[in-house]
Amino acid sequence: MKAVALTRYLPIDDPQSLLDVELGTPTATGHDILVRVEAVSVNPVDTKVRSPKPQVEAQPKVLGYDAAGVVEAVGEAVTRFKPGDAVYYAGDITRPGSNAQFQLVDERIVGRKPATLDFAQAAALPLTTITAWELLFDRMRYAPDGGGAGKSLLVIAGAGGVGSIAIQLAKRAGFTVIATASRQDTIDWCKALGADHVINHREALGPQLKAAGFDTIDAALNLADTDRYWTELGELLAPLGHVGLIVEPRGELRIGDPYKAKSIGIHWEMMFARPRFRTADMGEQGALLDRVADLIDAGQLRGTLTDTLSPINAANLREAHRRLESGTTIGKLVIAGW
Ligand SMILES: NC(=O)c1ccc[n+]([C@@H]2O[C@H](COP(=O)([O-])OP(=O)(O)OC[C@H]3O[C@@H](n4cnc5c(N)ncnc54)[C@H](OP(=O)(O)O)[C@@H]3O)[C@@H](O)[C@H]2O)c1
Repeated sequence: MKAVALTRYLPIDDPQSLLDVELGTPTATGHDILVRVEAVSVNPVDTKVRSPKPQVEAQPKVLGYDAAGVVEAVGEAVTRFKPGDAVYYAGDITRPGSNAQFQLVDERIVGRKPATLDFAQAAALPLTTITAWELLFDRMRYAPDGGGAGKSLLVIAGAGGVGSIAIQLAKRAGFTVIATASRQDTIDWCKALGADHVINHREALGPQLKAAGFDTIDAALNLADTDRYWTELGELLAPLGHVGLIVEPRGELRIGDPYKAKSIGIHWEMMFARPRFRTADMGEQGALLDRVADLIDAGQLRGTLTDTLSPINAANLREAHRRLESGTTIGKLVIAGW
């Protein structure tokens, strides 16, 4: 099968950083399904895993943690899918990734592809949707239907991949959403996704929130830079508020006052935790992807795809990594077809 892989960890401008390779097609056993991959998306995790370092892989390493495709074969323990089913999933960072014509993935972390989306649109969703859903509804424990009623939520990096679906899930849960964006294109995108207010994360947040009518906020999702907004969020969050984090801090964070004085809940989300540690509830990931497929097909959520490259090969994946590393992508970038 065709695949895109690396053996060395090089800057993305180096043509050797991602390579077209031929690999053997794997066989599905146990809870695994073998998926014929039709489209993949890229996420900052791809560029973080690929970041330059001296390490060398003995075997080609396939990246890619977002895919949509068709089930080709199933392991003997599989109950949820059969050959021919269209699916979408993020997968497991400890296993070979989705930048290959065929991929093995545990059925418990796979959802049925939304019927109203094509493969490219579907591939844009899984990783970011799992992240935003698990953060808001599993970690922060707001109810998906109505748990945000009467509450304000600040979404830092509203136009990013995670922010683009977080805004929609939060609006659906009833929150008043204040998104952050720093450019006209990203401001417009956040508004189109339903944000009630958009403020600029390149300027102090407090005065902008006050001007929009908020002395405090009930909850915040920091989807961009944990260190940079930590002190400011501690001041802006209301007593008994909650903050959701997804980005590894560069330095040490002071978790005491004002966070302690105000009893603010601090919640970490790592969307690979369930598959990586094979938690007893890892099937919740497949279930949430099914639920989101239903919401998409019912017109209650929209896709976040903004750009597609084709075909899936090393040159296009290098271009996709290059764009992601610029930090200015809007919504999701997908690579489709072989
Ligand atoms: N823990 C997890 O499970 C998990 C899951 C997914 C992602 N992540 C991490 O979360 C981060 C975001 O992922 P993503 O896919 O949403 O990224 P992305 O799509 O690349 O985000 C791009 C957006 O970030 C905004 N942005 C850039 N710098 C910013 C800053 N300093 N402050 C606020 N916003 C900023 C930009 O908005 P403007 O152009 O308007 O400035 C841009 O629209 C990445 O570090 C990623 O690795 C973690």
